[in-house]
Amino acid sequence: MRSPELYAGLMSGTSLDGVDAVLLEVSSAGPRCLAHRHQPFAPELAGELLALNQRGGEDELHRAALAANSVADAYASVLDELMVAAQVSAQAVRAAGAHGQTVRHRPELGFTLQLLNAARLAERSGIAVVSDLRSRDVAAGGQGAPLVPTFHRAVFGRTEHDVAVLNLGGMGNLSLLHADGRTLGFDTGPGNVLLDLWHQRHRGGPFDPAGAWAATGQVDGLLLERLSSEAFFSLPPPRSTGRDLFGAAWLQQHVRNEAPQDVQATLAELTAWTVANALQTHLPQAQELIVCGGGAFNTDLLGRLRRRLPGVSLVDSSERGLPPMQVEAAAFAWLAQRFMTGLPGNLPAVTGARGPRLLGALHPA
Ligand SMILES: Nc1ncnc2c1ncn2[C@@H]1O[C@H](COP(=O)(O)OP(=O)(O)OP(=O)(O)O)[C@@H](O)[C@H]1O
Ligand SMILES: [Mg+2]
Repeated sequence: MRSPELYAGLMSGTSLDGVDAVLLEVSSAGPRCLAHRHQPFAPELAGELLALNQRGGEDELHRAALAANSVADAYASVLDELMVAAQVSAQAVRAAGAHGQTVRHRPELGFTLQLLNAARLAERSGIAVVSDLRSRDVAAGGQGAPLVPTFHRAVFGRTEHDVAVLNLGGMGNLSLLHADGRTLGFDTGPGNVLLDLWHQRHRGGPFDPAGAWAATGQVDGLLLERLSSEAFFSLPPPRSTGRDLFGAAWLQQHVRNEAPQDVQATLAELTAWTVANALQTHLPQAQELIVCGGGAFNTDLLGRLRRRLPGVSLVDSSERGLPPMQVEAAAFAWLAQRFMTGLPGNLPAVTGARGPRLLGALHPA
């Protein structure tokens, strides 16, 4: 690489909390985050995206196209704010890696669908946009997810010891970074999504701050048993999931008439159990678990994880140079860099694809 290059990363995950944007400098010294901005989705857009996640709505094609325009506008708005904050012009940014909003993820049927009108985003921002980053991996027989482990390796990997990285977004995913260079990764199951859903239903507000409400409940052993018997949790990697499985309908199947705060405590315990179980199965020697994503702010959930992983030290990703809400967006900036320089973005050992692939489609500036 001749000189440092700038890439933007735009990410909106399954939590539907909004868009994170980062400006990433990529040089031979590695990636470095220069600026971060977050903008929440307008409530109507979040509601529409949630509705489009479920099957059976009216005139879905029309609504999906309009929602893709609105997602592009939301991305453009936070990208504008980012560029102003960083005092960088559009011409200085080589490309933006833009994830889009997942409304369906069905790799077993050969597709994954992220809503984003990338042409509109390129037109509005004046920046080249690399979008649809998951489809090529799915076309090559992969899960299209997770795509972040290679980036996790680039920023958090160590040659002295194995490291595990946990992203607690709407879903949870683990990256296992072996000291010898091998990298594995897979979805653990629901991260925050069910906690958010149950909190919204019973308490209002987007999420349970610090997990304080969950902390007032008692774990219901029978409910936890029913939830944890889900077949997904015993699938071997590669595996990935989304709201298609872990949504309101799934929760409804299992909840009976437990007290609401006990359900919340049990859902938090479920997330902790899935992560601890996955780590003990796939990287039992791990001594360090770096935590990122919004779940890193859930004190109750982290406490449950610590109790289940007594020999493992939990480290906030900011202690390793990248704050929790910047990691995923930075990964998509990094994937844009991979695309623009002709390098594959996936790891076949992680996604199950037939081979390494160039990920994304380009909308030039
Ligand atoms: N202070 C907090 N206390 C508890 N939970 C929080 C707090 N801040 C954020 N969260 C949780 O983090 C979620 C947002 O996290 P994040 O943006 O990483 O998820 P995401 O957008 O679904 O990303 P992805 O699925 O791609 O990993 C919120 O919905 C909420 O559940
Ligand atoms: Mg988010």
